[in-house]
Amino acid sequence: MYNSKITGLGYYVPDNVVTNDDLSKIMDTNDAWIQERTGIKERRHVIKGEDTTTSMGVKAAKIAIERAGIDKDDIDFIVFATLSPDYYFPGPGVLVQRDLGIKTVGALDVRNQCSGFVYAISVADQYIKTGMYKNILVIGSELHSYGLDMTTRGRAVSVIFGDGAGAAILSRAESQDEGILSTHLHSEGQHAEELSLIAPGMGKRWVSDIIADNDPNDESYFPYMNGQFVFKNAVVRFSEVIMEGLGKNGLQPNDIDLLVPHQANLRISQFIQNKFGLKDDQVFNNIMSYGNTTAASIPIALTEAWESGKVNSGDLVVLAAFGSGFTWGSVIIRW
Ligand SMILES: CC(C)(COP(=O)(O)OP(=O)(O)OC[C@H]1O[C@@H](n2cnc3c(N)ncnc32)[C@H](O)[C@@H]1OP(=O)(O)O)[C@@H](O)C(=O)NCCC(=O)NCCS
Repeated sequence: MYNSKITGLGYYVPDNVVTNDDLSKIMDTNDAWIQERTGIKERRHVIKGEDTTTSMGVKAAKIAIERAGIDKDDIDFIVFATLSPDYYFPGPGVLVQRDLGIKTVGALDVRNQCSGFVYAISVADQYIKTGMYKNILVIGSELHSYGLDMTTRGRAVSVIFGDGAGAAILSRAESQDEGILSTHLHSEGQHAEELSLIAPGMGKRWVSDIIADNDPNDESYFPYMNGQFVFKNAVVRFSEVIMEGLGKNGLQPNDIDLLVPHQANLRISQFIQNKFGLKDDQVFNNIMSYGNTTAASIPIALTEAWESGKVNSGDLVVLAAFGSGFTWGSVIIRW
């Protein structure tokens, strides 16, 4: 058995900054409402045609590969987490393999929305633990802006989400005392539709129905979120899964050097921080600048934390996520 550790991190966000005031020009919303409820000040939106979920993932991956000090030919496997793939199929994993010119290694797509990166890390960790692979490229990337309802009708969702990508290289660690100590995954499909995008799919809204109906009021291909219900579940599950991870390793909340929560809502992060009695410098938040970038949020935040010197050798770093599914999970890392 081997441990895996993160040896390289990178992120990419589009240059195009969209402020709350910019949104208030195209829908009935305002900066005060958005900041008070979510903490978000601005987010990035791709300029149409300039980037895709895959191209952003590739840009983040190049930085992570270089920082890991490996060559693309050293990559044994690719795991790509997104809810906003370029194509309905195939998923972006193979597009990254093609665009980076990586040899014909396996490429797996993960569909776990806001928990996608935590699930992807957990999958990659298992392959390294067993000795099957040595270096795995893990990407979380989202292009939300093309798919949001940018009218007043969609404001409760569209002000929250932003575009971007983050990537990590997971490599075999030298000892069992460093790297990923454990990962913890959960789901509760009972609430699948509470945060969902129903169409197009093969269940309720077929592509052929949408084309046939040609109904401009059809909301089924925009994301739906029962915000307060999601919020209530998120604070409970975040807390549970962080405690589960700490407990598994004989640790307490005050052992955490840095918690990097999925950037769902600043109020959720603050709730967790208060519940665990953590100081401001023990929790990393950047939702103010990027909004909720779903599967990309943890790798973007972790990269920024690392770049600003907040992640050091020997630190206990905890990643935690909750989102659509519902799915949730945590990763406990000795850096
Ligand atoms: C989405 C969220 C910010 C909404 O906040 P809320 O306090 O629950 O707000 P509500 O949905 O009850 O709406 C309150 C009012 O604001 C209005 N409103 C909704 N979006 C608005 C916007 N962008 N701008 C201005 N007003 C808005 C609503 O229409 C409603 O008006 P009404 O009282 O006249 O009906 C909040 O529920 C939340 O953060 N939930 C969790 C979201 C999350 O983390 N999702 C990702 C999980 S991975």
